[in-house]
Amino acid sequence: MIDEIFIHEANLENAKDILKIQSQTWITNYPNPQIGITKKDIEEKIKQWHKEGEDRIKQILTTPNSHTWVAKCGDKVIGFIGVLKGEQYNSIEAVHILPEFQGKGIGTKLIKKALEWLGNNKPVSLEVVTYNINAQRLYYRLGFKKQSDTTCYTITLPNGKQIPKLLMVKE
Ligand SMILES: CC(C)(COP(=O)(O)OP(=O)(O)OC[C@H]1O[C@@H](n2cnc3c(N)ncnc32)[C@H](O)[C@@H]1OP(=O)(O)O)[C@@H](O)C(=O)NCCC(=O)NCCS
Repeated sequence: MIDEIFIHEANLENAKDILKIQSQTWITNYPNPQIGITKKDIEEKIKQWHKEGEDRIKQILTTPNSHTWVAKCGDKVIGFIGVLKGEQYNSIEAVHILPEFQGKGIGTKLIKKALEWLGNNKPVSLEVVTYNINAQRLYYRLGFKKQSDTTCYTITLPNGKQIPKLLMVKE
């Protein structure tokens, strides 16, 4: 049983928490030795973020037409979502929940909050790692549909390896 979860608009002080959460979810959820993405590869990416520091996150938090919320359990920030209003599409840029809080409905709560803010006037897109089946199941349930199985979207890791992603859209 976890304490009640509250959703707040993110502020610059949350940059540190956001960096920490993103690092933890990446190391837990993104290694995939079957396609050659090792834990060490992901750790290298995280090291790069830590070198860039909180400024990278602060820049995202202050991007025009973007909005970020954090989920809190007491004083602890346990997840976040960042979205962007675009010309043709609005988009979910990132949604991450600390591993020990995953599967408890918090991601759904954050996504619904974000969809409400984005409104219905444009489709909403997101990119998801092809082997992140858990996340894809959640997006399907919320009305997103896979647009492509091709790996035209990728995340490039510091050693040049690429994590394949696919596009999902909610009309
Ligand atoms: C994907 C993510 C944001 C979903 O948030 P969540 O709070 O765990 O999800 P919820 O509890 O609201 O919803 C549960 C549903 O999400 C899916 N899910 C995703 N990740 C899950 C996990 N680690 N554990 C359990 N369910 C998970 C399940 O399919 C579940 O659906 P079901 O109830 O039909 O079985 C979160 O698990 C996470 O941060 N994962 C790692 C980072 C990531 O993949 N981010 C998305 C990038 S596109």
